[in-house]
Amino acid sequence: MPMSTPRELFIHELSDAMSAEHIIHKMLPELQKEAKHPELKAAFKEHEQETRQQVKNLEQIFKQLGEKPEETVCHAAEGLKQEHDALHEEEPSAEMLEMGNIAGAAKTEHYEIATYTALQQMARDLGEGDIAKLLGENLAQEKAMSKRIEGFAKQLGKEAKAAAAAD
Ligand SMILES: [Fe+2]
Ligand SMILES: [Fe+2]
Repeated sequence: MPMSTPRELFIHELSDAMSAEHIIHKMLPELQKEAKHPELKAAFKEHEQETRQQVKNLEQIFKQLGEKPEETVCHAAEGLKQEHDALHEEEPSAEMLEMGNIAGAAKTEHYEIATYTALQQMARDLGEGDIAKLLGENLAQEKAMSKRIEGFAKQLGKEAKAAAAAD
C-alpha cells in the first residue's frame, strides 16, 4: 500500500532507526576490541549497553503504537559499517585504526542524533508525548556519546602530535 500519512512515515523511520541500532550494536564489540586506550574501550562498552536500552525503547514505542517494525535495512548504518571495513583494507597501524575508529564513531553518533531529532519532532507533531519522551532518552545518550568521542579525538590528536615531535 502506498504511504500517504505522517504516521506511516513515522513507522517507517522508526523501523529504520531500529535497524540502525541493531547494526551499530553489532559493531560496538569490534570497536571495543580495537580500542587501545582503556577509557575508550570502556566508553564503547557502555555505549553497547546503552544501545541495548535504545532498542528496548524502540520496542516499547512500537508496542505503544500497536505496530510491528517493518523489515527494513538502514542503508546509512550499513554504509558506516562498510567504511569501517574500508579502513581495515588500508592495513592501518593499531594507532591509526583507533584514530580512524574515533572519526567513524563521530559520524555514527551525528547520524543517530539527526535520526532521533527528526523522530522526536515527528512524535510531537503526531501528539505522541510519551513516545517523544522515550526518543528523547535515546537522543540524550547519543549526544553524550558524541561529546565523549569528541574528547577522545582531541586527546588522541594531541598524543599523535607529541609522538611525531619526539621522533
Ligand atoms: Fe544508538
Ligand atoms: Fe550511538
